[in-house]
Amino acid sequence: MKTKFTEMFGVEHPIMQGGMHYVGFAELAAAVSNAGGLGTITALTQRTPDDLAKEIEKCHQLTDKPFAVNVTILPMVNTPDYPGYLKAIIEGGVKIVETAGRSPEKFMDTLKEHGIKVIHKCTSVRHALKAQKIGCDAVSADGFECGGHPGEDDIPNFILLPRVLEELEIPFLASGGFATGSQLVAALSLGAEGINMGTRFVATKEAPVHQNVKQAIVNASELDTRLIMRDLKNTERVLSNKAVDELVTLEAKKGKDISFDEVAPYVVGKYKDVMMNGKMDVGAWSCGMVAGLINDIPTCKELIDRIMLDANTIISNRLSKLIT
Ligand SMILES: Cc1cc2nc3c(=O)[nH]c(=O)nc-3n(C[C@H](O)[C@H](O)[C@H](O)COP(=O)(O)O)c2cc1C
Repeated sequence: MKTKFTEMFGVEHPIMQGGMHYVGFAELAAAVSNAGGLGTITALTQRTPDDLAKEIEKCHQLTDKPFAVNVTILPMVNTPDYPGYLKAIIEGGVKIVETAGRSPEKFMDTLKEHGIKVIHKCTSVRHALKAQKIGCDAVSADGFECGGHPGEDDIPNFILLPRVLEELEIPFLASGGFATGSQLVAALSLGAEGINMGTRFVATKEAPVHQNVKQAIVNASELDTRLIMRDLKNTERVLSNKAVDELVTLEAKKGKDISFDEVAPYVVGKYKDVMMNGKMDVGAWSCGMVAGLINDIPTCKELIDRIMLDANTIISNRLSKLIT
Protein backbone atom coordinates (compact mmCIF):
# COMPACT_ATOMS: atom_id res chain seq x y z
CA MET A 1 0.00 0.00 0.00
CA LYS A 2 1.47 3.33 -1.07
CA THR A 3 0.34 6.54 0.65
CA LYS A 4 1.82 10.01 1.09
CA PHE A 5 3.06 8.78 4.49
CA THR A 6 4.92 5.73 3.13
CA GLU A 7 6.43 7.87 0.36
CA MET A 8 7.42 10.80 2.55
CA PHE A 9 9.02 8.71 5.31
CA GLY A 10 10.39 5.84 3.21
CA VAL A 11 8.52 3.00 4.95
CA GLU A 12 6.67 0.00 3.52
CA HIS A 13 3.39 0.22 5.47
CA PRO A 14 1.29 3.24 6.57
CA ILE A 15 1.67 2.39 10.26
CA MET A 16 3.58 4.33 12.90
CA GLN A 17 4.37 3.53 16.53
CA GLY A 18 3.99 6.72 18.57
CA GLY A 19 6.44 7.74 21.26
CA MET A 20 5.69 6.08 24.61
CA HIS A 21 7.33 6.81 27.95
CA TYR A 22 9.24 3.75 29.22
CA VAL A 23 8.00 1.69 26.23
CA GLY A 24 9.62 3.40 23.24
CA PHE A 25 13.09 1.90 23.60
CA ALA A 26 15.33 0.80 20.72
CA GLU A 27 14.03 -2.80 20.85
CA LEU A 28 10.43 -1.80 20.06
CA ALA A 29 11.30 0.98 17.59
CA ALA A 30 13.56 -1.39 15.63
CA ALA A 31 10.99 -4.22 15.68
CA VAL A 32 8.30 -1.90 14.26
CA SER A 33 10.64 -0.50 11.61
CA ASN A 34 11.92 -3.97 10.67
CA ALA A 35 8.28 -5.03 10.21
CA GLY A 36 7.83 -2.21 7.67
CA GLY A 37 6.25 0.42 9.94
CA LEU A 38 7.82 3.50 11.49
CA GLY A 39 9.18 2.80 14.98
CA THR A 40 9.88 5.56 17.49
CA ILE A 41 12.30 5.98 20.40
CA THR A 42 11.02 8.23 23.21
CA ALA A 43 13.66 10.85 23.99
CA LEU A 44 12.57 11.83 27.49
CA THR A 45 12.61 8.25 28.80
CA GLN A 46 16.38 8.56 28.41
CA ARG A 47 17.70 10.32 31.50
CA THR A 48 20.29 12.40 29.65
CA PRO A 49 21.08 13.36 26.04
CA ASP A 50 24.07 10.96 26.24
CA ASP A 51 21.71 8.12 27.13
CA LEU A 52 19.53 9.04 24.15
CA ALA A 53 22.61 9.02 21.89
CA LYS A 54 23.34 5.45 23.08
CA GLU A 55 19.73 4.37 22.52
CA ILE A 56 19.80 5.78 18.98
CA GLU A 57 23.06 3.96 18.29
CA LYS A 58 21.51 0.73 19.62
CA CYS A 59 18.53 1.18 17.30
CA HIS A 60 20.88 1.67 14.32
CA GLN A 61 22.50 -1.67 15.28
CA LEU A 62 19.09 -3.38 15.31
CA THR A 63 17.65 -1.97 12.07
CA ASP A 64 18.80 -0.35 8.85
CA LYS A 65 15.27 1.01 8.26
CA PRO A 66 14.11 4.56 9.08
CA PHE A 67 12.98 5.22 12.65
CA ALA A 68 11.86 8.35 14.51
CA VAL A 69 12.54 9.96 17.89
CA ASN A 70 9.66 11.42 19.91
CA VAL A 71 10.27 14.73 21.65
CA THR A 72 7.45 15.48 24.09
CA ILE A 73 6.98 19.09 25.11
CA LEU A 74 4.63 19.00 28.12
CA PRO A 75 4.54 21.16 31.23
CA MET A 76 7.08 19.55 33.56
CA VAL A 77 8.44 20.26 37.00
CA ASN A 78 12.02 20.41 35.68
CA THR A 79 12.47 21.50 32.05
CA PRO A 80 14.41 18.81 30.17
CA ASP A 81 17.63 19.64 28.29
CA TYR A 82 15.89 19.95 24.92
CA PRO A 83 18.92 21.39 23.06
CA GLY A 84 20.97 18.43 24.31
CA TYR A 85 18.36 15.89 23.17
CA LEU A 86 18.14 17.59 19.74
CA LYS A 87 21.93 17.42 19.43
CA ALA A 88 21.81 13.66 20.13
CA ILE A 89 19.11 13.25 17.47
CA ILE A 90 21.05 15.25 14.88
CA GLU A 91 24.41 13.63 15.60
CA GLY A 92 22.74 10.20 15.69
CA GLY A 93 21.64 10.69 12.07
CA VAL A 94 17.91 10.41 12.86
CA LYS A 95 15.87 11.99 10.08
CA ILE A 96 12.35 11.89 11.55
CA VAL A 97 11.14 13.52 14.76
CA GLU A 98 7.68 13.16 16.29
CA THR A 99 6.87 16.16 18.47
CA ALA A 100 3.93 16.25 20.87
CA GLY A 101 2.40 18.45 23.53
CA ARG A 102 3.35 22.10 23.15
CA SER A 103 4.24 23.65 19.77
CA PRO A 104 7.69 22.63 18.46
CA GLU A 105 8.12 26.11 16.91
CA LYS A 106 11.33 26.97 18.75
CA PHE A 107 13.01 23.77 17.54
CA MET A 108 11.91 23.96 13.90
CA ASP A 109 14.86 25.95 12.50
CA THR A 110 17.39 23.54 13.99
CA LEU A 111 15.48 20.47 12.82
CA LYS A 112 14.99 21.81 9.30
CA GLU A 113 18.64 22.93 9.00
CA HIS A 114 19.58 19.29 9.48
CA GLY A 115 17.05 17.90 7.00
CA ILE A 116 14.89 16.33 9.71
CA LYS A 117 11.21 15.76 8.92
CA VAL A 118 8.76 16.63 11.69
CA ILE A 119 5.46 14.91 12.47
CA HIS A 120 3.59 16.92 15.10
CA LYS A 121 1.03 15.00 17.13
CA CYS A 122 -1.93 17.14 18.12
CA THR A 123 -5.53 16.87 19.21
CA SER A 124 -7.30 19.76 17.45
CA VAL A 125 -7.70 21.37 14.03
CA ARG A 126 -6.21 24.65 15.29
CA HIS A 127 -3.07 22.96 16.54
CA ALA A 128 -2.77 21.03 13.26
CA LEU A 129 -2.99 24.30 11.33
CA LYS A 130 -0.36 25.87 13.58
CA ALA A 131 1.92 22.86 12.94
CA GLN A 132 1.47 23.31 9.20
CA LYS A 133 2.19 27.04 9.47
CA ILE A 134 5.48 26.58 11.33
CA GLY A 135 6.72 24.07 8.74
CA CYS A 136 5.91 20.60 10.08
CA ASP A 137 5.91 17.98 7.32
CA ALA A 138 2.95 16.00 8.63
CA VAL A 139 0.55 15.86 11.53
CA SER A 140 -0.69 12.98 13.65
CA ALA A 141 -4.29 13.75 14.68
CA ASP A 142 -4.91 12.22 18.10
CA GLY A 143 -8.62 11.69 18.81
CA PHE A 144 -10.31 11.73 22.20
CA GLU A 145 -10.08 7.90 22.32
CA CYS A 146 -6.30 7.94 22.51
CA GLY A 147 -4.09 6.67 25.27
CA GLY A 148 -2.00 9.47 26.79
CA HIS A 149 -2.95 13.12 26.44
CA PRO A 150 -6.14 13.68 24.41
CA GLY A 151 -6.19 17.47 24.98
CA GLU A 152 -9.18 19.33 26.34
CA ASP A 153 -11.56 19.46 23.34
CA ASP A 154 -12.86 15.86 23.53
CA ILE A 155 -13.29 15.40 19.77
CA PRO A 156 -13.26 11.74 18.70
CA ASN A 157 -11.65 10.62 15.45
CA PHE A 158 -14.91 10.24 13.49
CA ILE A 159 -15.20 14.03 13.64
CA LEU A 160 -11.58 15.11 14.11
CA LEU A 161 -10.20 13.36 11.00
CA PRO A 162 -12.74 14.74 8.48
CA ARG A 163 -12.30 18.19 10.06
CA VAL A 164 -8.51 17.96 9.71
CA LEU A 165 -8.99 16.85 6.09
CA GLU A 166 -11.18 19.89 5.41
CA GLU A 167 -8.57 22.35 6.65
CA LEU A 168 -5.09 20.89 6.31
CA GLU A 169 -2.87 20.73 3.23
CA ILE A 170 -0.01 18.61 4.63
CA PRO A 171 -0.52 14.83 5.08
CA PHE A 172 -1.85 13.50 8.36
CA LEU A 173 -1.98 10.24 10.28
CA ALA A 174 -4.98 9.07 12.29
CA SER A 175 -4.02 8.39 15.89
CA GLY A 176 -5.95 7.11 18.88
CA GLY A 177 -8.03 3.96 19.05
CA PHE A 178 -6.35 2.04 16.22
CA ALA A 179 -5.52 -1.67 16.27
CA THR A 180 -7.06 -3.38 13.23
CA GLY A 181 -7.08 -3.52 9.45
CA SER A 182 -10.70 -2.41 9.22
CA GLN A 183 -9.80 0.70 11.24
CA LEU A 184 -6.88 1.42 8.91
CA VAL A 185 -9.29 1.32 5.96
CA ALA A 186 -11.66 3.64 7.85
CA ALA A 187 -8.80 6.06 8.58
CA LEU A 188 -7.77 6.10 4.92
CA SER A 189 -11.34 6.76 3.85
CA LEU A 190 -11.51 9.68 6.30
CA GLY A 191 -8.51 11.23 4.58
CA ALA A 192 -5.59 10.04 6.70
CA GLU A 193 -2.41 8.73 5.04
CA GLY A 194 -1.95 6.02 7.67
CA ILE A 195 -2.36 5.26 11.37
CA ASN A 196 -0.33 5.90 14.51
CA MET A 197 -0.73 3.36 17.33
CA GLY A 198 0.40 3.43 20.94
CA THR A 199 -1.48 1.04 23.22
CA ARG A 200 -1.62 -1.73 20.56
CA PHE A 201 2.18 -1.76 20.32
CA VAL A 202 2.62 -2.06 24.10
CA ALA A 203 0.98 -5.51 23.91
CA THR A 204 3.54 -6.97 21.50
CA LYS A 205 6.29 -9.51 22.12
CA GLU A 206 9.09 -7.02 21.48
CA ALA A 207 7.79 -4.18 23.68
CA PRO A 208 10.44 -4.20 26.44
CA VAL A 209 7.95 -3.90 29.30
CA HIS A 210 6.88 -6.29 32.06
CA GLN A 211 4.50 -9.08 31.06
CA ASN A 212 1.98 -7.76 33.64
CA VAL A 213 1.57 -4.58 31.56
CA LYS A 214 0.85 -6.50 28.35
CA GLN A 215 -1.58 -8.81 30.18
CA ALA A 216 -3.37 -5.84 31.80
CA ILE A 217 -4.07 -4.44 28.31
CA VAL A 218 -5.28 -7.82 27.04
CA ASN A 219 -7.53 -8.18 30.11
CA ALA A 220 -8.95 -4.63 29.89
CA SER A 221 -12.11 -3.69 28.04
CA GLU A 222 -13.00 -0.39 26.36
CA LEU A 223 -14.68 0.61 29.65
CA ASP A 224 -11.51 0.43 31.72
CA THR A 225 -9.77 3.73 31.02
CA ARG A 226 -10.16 6.90 33.09
CA LEU A 227 -9.40 10.58 32.46
CA ILE A 228 -7.22 12.22 35.07
CA MET A 229 -5.86 15.77 35.57
CA ARG A 230 -8.84 17.38 33.80
CA ASP A 231 -9.00 20.29 36.20
CA LEU A 232 -5.29 20.92 35.71
CA LYS A 233 -5.90 21.13 31.95
CA ASN A 234 -3.38 18.35 31.42
CA THR A 235 -5.85 15.52 30.81
CA GLU A 236 -4.42 12.02 30.51
CA ARG A 237 -6.24 8.81 29.57
CA VAL A 238 -4.93 6.00 31.77
CA LEU A 239 -5.85 2.45 32.69
CA SER A 240 -8.00 2.17 35.77
CA ASN A 241 -6.23 0.67 38.80
CA LYS A 242 -6.18 1.12 42.57
CA ALA A 243 -4.10 4.33 42.50
CA VAL A 244 -6.12 5.80 39.61
CA ASP A 245 -9.43 5.09 41.34
CA GLU A 246 -8.12 6.87 44.44
CA LEU A 247 -6.97 9.84 42.35
CA VAL A 248 -10.31 10.06 40.50
CA THR A 249 -12.12 10.15 43.85
CA LEU A 250 -9.78 12.87 45.14
CA GLU A 251 -10.22 14.92 41.96
CA ALA A 252 -14.01 14.65 42.13
CA LYS A 253 -13.89 15.87 45.74
CA LYS A 254 -11.51 18.80 45.12
CA GLY A 255 -12.78 19.92 41.72
CA LYS A 256 -11.07 23.06 40.41
CA ASP A 257 -9.29 23.56 43.75
CA ILE A 258 -6.98 20.60 43.19
CA SER A 259 -3.28 21.43 42.89
CA PHE A 260 -0.57 19.59 41.01
CA ASP A 261 1.14 18.82 44.31
CA GLU A 262 -1.90 16.76 45.35
CA VAL A 263 -1.91 14.84 42.05
CA ALA A 264 1.87 14.34 41.88
CA PRO A 265 2.06 11.28 44.20
CA TYR A 266 -0.12 9.38 41.70
CA VAL A 267 1.57 10.46 38.46
CA VAL A 268 5.19 11.52 38.98
CA GLY A 269 7.95 8.93 38.65
CA LYS A 270 5.60 5.95 38.45
CA TYR A 271 6.20 4.74 34.89
CA LYS A 272 9.44 2.92 35.60
CA ASP A 273 7.90 0.80 38.36
CA VAL A 274 4.88 -0.04 36.21
CA MET A 275 6.68 -0.72 32.94
CA MET A 276 9.91 -2.32 34.19
CA ASN A 277 8.81 -3.98 37.43
CA GLY A 278 5.19 -4.80 36.58
CA LYS A 279 3.82 -3.09 39.71
CA MET A 280 0.44 -2.39 38.24
CA ASP A 281 -1.14 -0.45 41.08
CA VAL A 282 1.59 2.07 42.01
CA GLY A 283 0.33 4.89 39.84
CA ALA A 284 -1.25 6.11 36.61
CA TRP A 285 -0.04 5.01 33.18
CA SER A 286 -1.40 5.91 29.75
CA CYS A 287 -3.68 3.44 28.00
CA GLY A 288 -6.28 3.93 25.26
CA MET A 289 -9.88 2.76 24.93
CA VAL A 290 -8.52 0.52 22.17
CA ALA A 291 -7.57 -1.94 24.95
CA GLY A 292 -11.06 -3.32 24.31
CA LEU A 293 -9.88 -4.47 20.85
CA ILE A 294 -6.62 -6.02 22.02
CA ASN A 295 -6.81 -9.73 22.77
CA ASP A 296 -3.34 -11.09 22.08
CA ILE A 297 0.39 -10.39 22.29
CA PRO A 298 1.77 -10.88 18.77
CA THR A 299 5.19 -9.91 17.39
CA CYS A 300 5.26 -6.50 15.68
CA LYS A 301 5.61 -8.27 12.34
CA GLU A 302 2.61 -10.53 12.98
CA LEU A 303 0.58 -7.51 14.04
CA ILE A 304 1.52 -5.28 11.10
CA ASP A 305 1.14 -8.12 8.56
CA ARG A 306 -2.30 -8.91 9.98
CA ILE A 307 -3.44 -5.29 9.81
CA MET A 308 -2.20 -4.94 6.22
CA LEU A 309 -3.72 -8.25 5.09
CA ASP A 310 -7.09 -7.40 6.66
CA ALA A 311 -7.04 -3.88 5.20
CA ASN A 312 -6.16 -5.11 1.71
CA THR A 313 -8.78 -7.85 1.90
CA ILE A 314 -11.51 -5.42 2.99
CA ILE A 315 -10.66 -3.02 0.18
CA SER A 316 -10.39 -5.61 -2.58
CA ASN A 317 -13.01 -8.16 -1.49
CA ARG A 318 -15.66 -6.02 0.10
CA LEU A 319 -15.44 -2.33 -0.72
CA SER A 320 -14.54 -2.64 -4.40
CA LYS A 321 -17.52 -5.02 -4.86
CA LEU A 322 -19.95 -2.47 -3.46
CA ILE A 323 -19.48 -0.43 -6.61
CA THR A 324 -21.92 -1.67 -9.26
C1 LIG B 1 2.03 3.81 27.75
C2 LIG B 1 1.95 5.02 26.86
C3 LIG B 1 2.89 6.04 27.01
C4 LIG B 1 2.83 7.16 26.18
N1 LIG B 1 3.80 8.12 26.29
C5 LIG B 1 3.85 9.15 25.40
C6 LIG B 1 4.90 10.09 25.43
O1 LIG B 1 5.81 10.02 26.27
N2 LIG B 1 4.89 11.08 24.49
C7 LIG B 1 3.91 11.18 23.54
O2 LIG B 1 3.97 12.09 22.69
N3 LIG B 1 2.88 10.30 23.50
C8 LIG B 1 2.83 9.29 24.38
N4 LIG B 1 1.82 8.36 24.31
C9 LIG B 1 0.79 8.51 23.25
C10 LIG B 1 1.11 7.66 22.02
O3 LIG B 1 2.27 8.08 21.35
C11 LIG B 1 -0.05 7.70 21.00
O4 LIG B 1 -0.26 9.03 20.56
C12 LIG B 1 -1.34 7.17 21.59
O5 LIG B 1 -1.07 6.03 22.38
C13 LIG B 1 -2.34 6.81 20.50
O6 LIG B 1 -3.50 6.30 21.05
P1 LIG B 1 -3.76 4.69 21.24
O7 LIG B 1 -3.08 4.35 22.51
O8 LIG B 1 -5.24 4.61 21.31
O9 LIG B 1 -3.16 3.99 20.06
C14 LIG B 1 1.82 7.26 25.17
C15 LIG B 1 0.88 6.25 25.06
C16 LIG B 1 0.92 5.14 25.88
C17 LIG B 1 -0.10 4.06 25.71
